[in-house]
Amino acid sequence: MDRPYARDPYWYKDAIIYETHVKAFFDANGDGVGDFEGLLHKLDYLEDLGITCLWLLPFFPSPLRDDGYDIADYTGVNPAYGTLDDFRRLVEEAHRRDIAVLIELVVNHTSDQHPWFQRARRAPRGSPEREFYVWSDTDQKYAGTRIIFTDTERSNWTWDEVAGQFYWHRFFHHQPDLNFDNPAVLEALLEVMRHWLDLGIDGFRLDAIPYLVERDGTSCENLPETHAVIKQIRAAVEKDYPDRMLLAEANQWPDDVREYFGDGDECHMAFHFPVMPRIFMALRQEDAAPIVDIMRRTPAIPESCQWGMFLRNHDELTLEMVTDVERDYMVLAYAREPGQTINVGIRRRLAPLVENGRRRIELLNSILFSFPGTPILYYGDEIGMGDDVRRPDRDGVRTPMQWSTEENGGFSTAPLSKLYSMPISDTVYGYPAVNVEAQLRNPSSLLHWMRNMIRLRKHFPVFGRGTMEFLDAGNRKVLAYVRRYEEDTILCVANMSRNAQPARIDLAAFEGKTLVEMLGYTHFPRVGAEPYFLSLGSYGYYWFELR
Ligand code: NOJ
Repeated sequence: MDRPYARDPYWYKDAIIYETHVKAFFDANGDGVGDFEGLLHKLDYLEDLGITCLWLLPFFPSPLRDDGYDIADYTGVNPAYGTLDDFRRLVEEAHRRDIAVLIELVVNHTSDQHPWFQRARRAPRGSPEREFYVWSDTDQKYAGTRIIFTDTERSNWTWDEVAGQFYWHRFFHHQPDLNFDNPAVLEALLEVMRHWLDLGIDGFRLDAIPYLVERDGTSCENLPETHAVIKQIRAAVEKDYPDRMLLAEANQWPDDVREYFGDGDECHMAFHFPVMPRIFMALRQEDAAPIVDIMRRTPAIPESCQWGMFLRNHDELTLEMVTDVERDYMVLAYAREPGQTINVGIRRRLAPLVENGRRRIELLNSILFSFPGTPILYYGDEIGMGDDVRRPDRDGVRTPMQWSTEENGGFSTAPLSKLYSMPISDTVYGYPAVNVEAQLRNPSSLLHWMRNMIRLRKHFPVFGRGTMEFLDAGNRKVLAYVRRYEEDTILCVANMSRNAQPARIDLAAFEGKTLVEMLGYTHFPRVGAEPYFLSLGSYGYYWFELR
């Protein structure tokens, strides 16, 4: 089969990734739950949007107590979503459209319903079966380890009656951590990887990888032993499936995330967690400094590697990688209403976070599309979907995709009571107001704007591959940066303020060049010896080619 990367081993650097949940996208069989068949129906939509990689959230058999991140069988698919054959067809059809498929590898833990755990709790102490997980007679071991799900969990240990021991878990208590000190665990996971790679997938998002190995007296995060495991995973992929991609989910500070690239021998990509909240902070403070600071603190990465940039995803807007003061500020700025926070973050979608301000949505996406890295879109954000913080956990940002004004937003023909989740139906963000069909018909819709930006971005490899330098704009409210790759130089300018702003940009290095605005191909005055003067409207942004 012709794979997206058949043409280029660094395909992920130019990708536009679209994240969705099978259950949330489209329900083809009318049972109230989205399915593979539904995704197949909607591949044309995704192709037209211009995305080049589809990231599917976990679709494996699971008790769904963590929306599928609690896996009970690594090699099957949840029958509610279809069959393995349906999945195979989806991969083929996606590839036919030049869309790669990225799936989840939940490496750190399983569901407590997984046969490995059921076997472990009954197996004799010290046996290889028991040692698939991490056990202890006390709940005081590894005391220096933080709790991640602070709203629901009090300890990283839970007592198991059957085993007569505590087991270790970094997330929910029903998600026991696998024990990577037992070589059989990695062997078993490599088998799982081969199973999906043989089915043709193009990459894995490695869930929660900082926490694979535990050691006394440490934080149990980012340990050298954990990196050793990842290197083995990479080596196995490299050996038999070169050019497939590994994306690290490591919610850590830049220096620590950097380590997940290794020397180009761990993950190909890693999410840039720290920059994300700072983009929102800069917007609210009307000050580009938080973004510039964190990007300056971001270390260089190996040539073959790439950052994954995102604004929102299926989880809360995490505030783990900010200081206490910054966290307080973010909550004050973006989560004043009860229920808007969860754990250490804010459970809201992009549009409501910026009060449905179209200019702000565009500004943030212009940053997403022009920063170094591969942009990752969260389904529904391309049409400005809303959320519902009254729903449990993070369910309020995982509601059905809004296709039309039809019943259930065109997502499903099942009776409302059968849907896996109520669609959003409030007056501002509900499907009668926000849906794909209406936005396709309206040339000035957000959806059309997103399509355009995606097309533009795909035209210029400099965005995915180029270097970045910040420039002095003579105004703290204005972010100015240059991206360069081979012959291409692009200047991006973004006004973080609600008011019009002047910028005097130091373009001395580009004297004599002409600025060509990239959305309209308008020629701007030539760059002289003086700082280049631009005025920007409220939340305005420019992309210029320097010719
Ligand atoms: C990270 C996932 O993004 C999140 O949704 C999940 O709850 C945790 N990992 C635990 O698997």
